[in-house]
Formats: sequence, C-alpha cells, structure tokens
Amino acid sequence: MTAHSDYWNAFYDDGARPGWDMARPTPVLAEALACAAAAGLAPGASVVVPGCGYGHDAAGLEAEGFVVTGLDFAPLALQGARARYGDRVTWSSADWFSPQLGPLGPVPGPWDAIFDHTCFVAMDPERRRDYVEACARHLRPGGLWMVVVFDDVQGRPGPPHAIPLETCRDLALPRFEILHLARASASHPRRAGRELLMVARRRQD
Ligand SMILES: C[S@@+](CC[C@H](N)C(=O)[O-])C[C@H]1O[C@@H](n2cnc3c(N)ncnc32)[C@H](O)[C@@H]1O
Repeated sequence: MTAHSDYWNAFYDDGARPGWDMARPTPVLAEALACAAAAGLAPGASVVVPGCGYGHDAAGLEAEGFVVTGLDFAPLALQGARARYGDRVTWSSADWFSPQLGPLGPVPGPWDAIFDHTCFVAMDPERRRDYVEACARHLRPGGLWMVVVFDDVQGRPGPPHAIPLETCRDLALPRFEILHLARASASHPRRAGRELLMVARRRQD
C-alpha cells in the first residue's frame, strides 16, 4: 500500500497538513550539515530530498546555498511545496525506486548528497534493501547520504517503522562507509530521544 503514490497523496488532500509535517525544516538538518561539512560537503553542491512532502527541508537546504531537488511521487505534496517555496528548488515528481532517475532520466541526478527525513522510515521493511540501493544509485561515487530515522515509534503500527541503530548500520554497510551514526541531539521536542542521524559516504564501485 505504501509503495503507491495514491496512498500518500491522500494525506495531502485539500491542502491538509499531515501529522508528520513540522511546517519548517527539521532541527536535525543543521546537525546533519555540520557532519557533512566535516566530510567535505559545501554550499553549491547538489542535494536531493527524497519524499520531500511540502518541501520544508528542501527549502532549508536551498537557504544554506545548496542546489536542491525536492522529489516526491505524491503530486499534491509537490503542489504544496511549490506553493510554499516557489521555484528556488527544483521539484521533481518521481518514484525514488525508479531506474529512470539519473543523467538520462527526467530528474537531474546523480547528486552530491541526499537529505532523507522520514522517507526511509516510511518504507515497508522488506523494501529497505532496495531503498538503500536506490540511494547508492542516485549518488555520485563518494556522495553523502544524510538520513534521519526513528528507532522508536512508541509501539504504533507503521509507517513510520522503527529502524534500530544496528539495522541501519547493517543495511548501509554494503554500499556506504558510515561516517556518523548516533542519536540526534537536536530533535524536535515531540521526537526527542527517538531519532538517529546517519551520515554515510557512498563507496566507490
Ligand atoms: C512521511 S512523509 C514525509 C514528508 C516529508 N519528508 C516531511 O518530513 O514532511 C513521506 C513522503 O515520502 C513520499 N514517498 C514515499 N515513497 C516514495 C517513493 N517511492 N518515491 C518518492 N516519494 C515517496 C510520500 O509521498 C510522502 O510525501
């Protein structure tokens, strides 16, 4: 069900604000960028935000000087993102799993970095390996995957699905070198103590 755009699009019906929407970039973005800067990511680099929703994180990255693509397969999410933030960001309607993303596809990848906030955790657990493969595919070699996940969803059925630290590490390791994996220290109060931040570098093929 969550593999289909219709499922997600319905949350944005009539301009609704879904429960996960924070109306501003996650405070963990600054923490992620500090880790990524230490690994060489600088303003001017290209960054994609998969599952960007209403685009707050994408706009936050653009304000920091990055060249940003906000990508989502729910048309109403992108409509809301464009209404809020205009064309400072390139908004792309695409499925993150699509093999067509990339230099020859409709979206201008591969990118220097990914900022992933509540997209990886939204995936059905059986799709996680394919998701990680897609992240590797859409990054240039050496590119960075910054990802915020919940390791505690307070017993609620997903999505989002909790991803324990060890699982996150094991999923990433075949394709990524992990530079940072720890509890996020700057979470929104509603999420405090339940989020992990990972910054990982795509291995050379
Ligand atoms: C939980 S929402 C989070 C939205 C946004 N990141 C935020 O924090 O407000 C997950 C988003 O991922 C999008 N999404 C889920 N699977 C996707 C896929 N395979 N390709 C592109 N977007 C996807 C959904 O449409 C939805 O907007």
